[in-house]
Amino acid sequence: AEEAGADGEISAAGQPADGPVRTSVTVIVPTFNEAENVGELLDRLAAGLPPHLDCTAVFVDDSTDDTPAAIERAALTCPFPVSVIHRSVPVGGLSGAVVEGLKAATSSWIVVMDADLQHPPSLVPELIETGRRTDAELVVASRYAGGGSHAGLSGRYRVAVSRASTLVTKGLFPSALKGISDPMSGFFAIRRSTVHAQAGILKPLGYKILLELAIRCRPRTVAEVPFSFQERFAGESKSTVREGLRFLAHLVSLRTATPVARLITFGLIGVTGFLPNLCGLALLTALGLHYMAAEVVANQFGVLWNFVLIDLLIFRNSREHRHWADRLGRFALLANADLVLRIPLIALLVHRADLAVLPATALALLLTFVVRFISTELLVYLP
Ligand code: GDD
Ligand code: MN
Repeated sequence: AEEAGADGEISAAGQPADGPVRTSVTVIVPTFNEAENVGELLDRLAAGLPPHLDCTAVFVDDSTDDTPAAIERAALTCPFPVSVIHRSVPVGGLSGAVVEGLKAATSSWIVVMDADLQHPPSLVPELIETGRRTDAELVVASRYAGGGSHAGLSGRYRVAVSRASTLVTKGLFPSALKGISDPMSGFFAIRRSTVHAQAGILKPLGYKILLELAIRCRPRTVAEVPFSFQERFAGESKSTVREGLRFLAHLVSLRTATPVARLITFGLIGVTGFLPNLCGLALLTALGLHYMAAEVVANQFGVLWNFVLIDLLIFRNSREHRHWADRLGRFALLANADLVLRIPLIALLVHRADLAVLPATALALLLTFVVRFISTELLVYLP
C-alpha cells in the first residue's frame, strides 16, 4: 500500500481500478468502566467493516474497574489492531481522553464513538463514505437530522435538556455550528488533517468533544448522517449534574476565546454582582449597621461573587500561575481601587472636561471597567 492524494488516503497495489479506495480509520473510544461493553462493541465493529477500510481501534481508558483487561481479551479475537491508552491522571474527562486518542492517530480519518453501543458501530463505514463522497472534513452522526432519533435518551427530562442545550449552543456559535443539527453528538468522523493542524489549541473539558473540535478546528465542510441513538447495552451513564456544570463552563470557555468576548463576559458577570451586593446591604442594615459601612462590606460580597465566576468561567485555563488566595487578593484590590478611583475621575471629567455629571459618570464607569478588565488579565492571570 502507498499514500496517495493530498488527504493521505491509501490505495493498495492490485486493487480493482473501479473499486472503493482503501481508506485508513482510527476509531477512538473513550472508556470509563465499560468492561461489559467493549467486547460487543469490537464484535459489531468488525462485523460491519467493508474490506477497503483499514481500521484501528484506540481505547482511551480512565477506568477503575477491569475494562483494560476486557479490552485486551477482546482484542485477541478482533480482526483489526486494537490498542489501549490507560491514563493514570484523567485530565479533561471524556473530551481529554478523546484528545489523547486524536494525538496518537496516524490514519487519514478518525471516528469518535462511545463504548456503550448507544452509537451503532454499523454506521462507521457510512460516516467515512459520506465524508469521501461529499469531500467533507467533518461528518456528524446526528440524532436531529431527518431520519435520526433520540430513542435511547432516557426520560422526558433528558430529552428536554438535550433540545434546550442544543438550541442555546447553536445560538451562541451560529457560524461555527452551521450545518450541524446535533453539536452535542459524541459520534462523528473527522479528517486527521483537520484536527492535527489545530491540536495545540484544544482545551478539552467534560463531555462535548464535537463542540470543541467544530469550534476550534473549524472544518471547512460538514456533512451529517442521521442515526438513532440506542439504549445503553450494559452498565450506566457516567454523566452527572457536575458534568452539566462543566458543560456550561466549556461553553463560556469557547465563547471567550477572544479578548473582546472576554471583556463583554467580564462586564455581564460584573452586572450580576449587584445581586449579592444589594442582598448584603439589605442584610447588614437590617442588622443595624450604618448604611455607609454596610455598603463597604456588602461591596465585598459582590467582589467575591464576581471573582468566583470570573475565575471559574473566563480564566479557567489561566489559573495555574497563582494560588487562589493570591488571585482573590489581587482581584479584590483592583475592584476596590476601581471604586475609589471612580469618584475623583468623575470630578476630573466634570471640572476639567466640562462634562455634565451623568455622561461623566457613565464615561468613568466605562473607562474604569476597561482598565479593570485589562489589569485583571495582566496582573491576576498572566504569569
Ligand atoms: N476515558 C473516559 N474518561 N471516558 C469516559 C469518561 C471519562 O471521564 N466519562 C465517560 N466516558 C466514556 C464512557 O465510558 C462512554 O464510553 C462514553 O464516554 C459516553 O459516556 P456515557 O456516560 O455513556 O455518556 P452519555 O450516554 O450520558 O452521553 C453520551 O451521549 C450524549 C448525547 O446525549 C455522550 O456521547 C455525550 O457526549 C453526548 O452528548
Ligand atoms: Mn452512553
